[in-house]
Amino acid sequence: MKYPEYIEKLKPYIAGKPIEETQREYGVKHVIKLASNENPLGPSPKAVAAMTVAMKDLQLYPDASGFHLRHTLAKHEGVTFDEVVLGNGSNEVIELLIRTFCIPGDLMVTSDSVFAAYPISARIQGVDTIFTRMTQDYRFDLKAMLTQIKKNPRVKLVAIPNPNNPTGTYVPDSELIPFLREVEKIRKGSVHVILDYAYWEYVTAKDMADPIELYKQFDNVSVLKTFSKIYGLGGLRVGYGVMKPELASYVQKVRMPFNVSSLGLVGAQAAMTDTNFIKKSIAVNRAGMKTMSQFYRKAGIPFLPSQGNFFLINTRQGFGIDASEVFIECLKMGLIFRPVVNYGMPEWLRVTIGTAAQNKIAMRAFQKLK
Ligand SMILES: Cc1ncc(COP(=O)(O)O)c(C=O)c1O
Repeated sequence: MKYPEYIEKLKPYIAGKPIEETQREYGVKHVIKLASNENPLGPSPKAVAAMTVAMKDLQLYPDASGFHLRHTLAKHEGVTFDEVVLGNGSNEVIELLIRTFCIPGDLMVTSDSVFAAYPISARIQGVDTIFTRMTQDYRFDLKAMLTQIKKNPRVKLVAIPNPNNPTGTYVPDSELIPFLREVEKIRKGSVHVILDYAYWEYVTAKDMADPIELYKQFDNVSVLKTFSKIYGLGGLRVGYGVMKPELASYVQKVRMPFNVSSLGLVGAQAAMTDTNFIKKSIAVNRAGMKTMSQFYRKAGIPFLPSQGNFFLINTRQGFGIDASEVFIECLKMGLIFRPVVNYGMPEWLRVTIGTAAQNKIAMRAFQKLK
């Protein structure tokens, strides 16, 4: 069989190792997974309650327009109903935006070590990605990206997860806003910028504007968010994009009609009202970030400053071995972390923040490896 070259060249997305697989392979009973930036508190209880009630109607197809959830999101974000597009996770919105803007041969500009869904979604659709080098402090180099956008007339899209995963680093307003002003002028505003704020609720940096305020200032910017992180609903697969009505109308035509399940619609909406859970999730993450960063400093394990719910730690400097080895040693102790060799960073291990008890176990394991 002959497949398109861009399909043959595809490298699969590498997901976090599942708990059950680790139990099977390593014969460990109790496994803690801090590998996929999930919420360690579990799912929003209000979401679970609402979905349990909604189960009785599972014979029905979901509301294809996502009416109630989109209305709630529009209110929450201070935009109109027409500006909200739902996706099967924000990953699907990434894919839909690429499909809406690009034809095979077009280009997307982003940085090395960008969240992997971007280049994969592009490649699936025959779109190549131009990666610029990160700055020395592992941040997106917006100047280098701007040069590439100007130079290549087939660039249609720019992807900036802020903060990025797996690095956790971010671009401050002082760099992002002038960059967006420049991009807006290129080829009559036909280059679109995706700002991905999957971790927005965790952000503490003072020099990051509310993404929706940015969105409102620029015609060529979309903002993505997800229910997979702060709301604890990674398994439900619900995310959304905020985009201008004309673009949204095209994306609505490109997506499949029932891309978000009925449980997804109901669960996500209930999760948004779960203020106690949201507050607790933020508090647990802040405390965990503090504990873990203090530990890494004390233990001499270098890490990147992070605005998410995870840290990227340097295992070569911290333990004298590559992350893939630390990963295996930790699996034997019943802990799943995430080596990021597929991001071109073999010395780095991504460690999601857990509950206080989970963090303690993680620190003990790291201490054993020192
Ligand atoms: C930067 C970034 N964007 C998007 C996503 C995907 O989220 P979703 O589960 O909504 O598809 C992730 C998930 O880890 C992420 O790190």
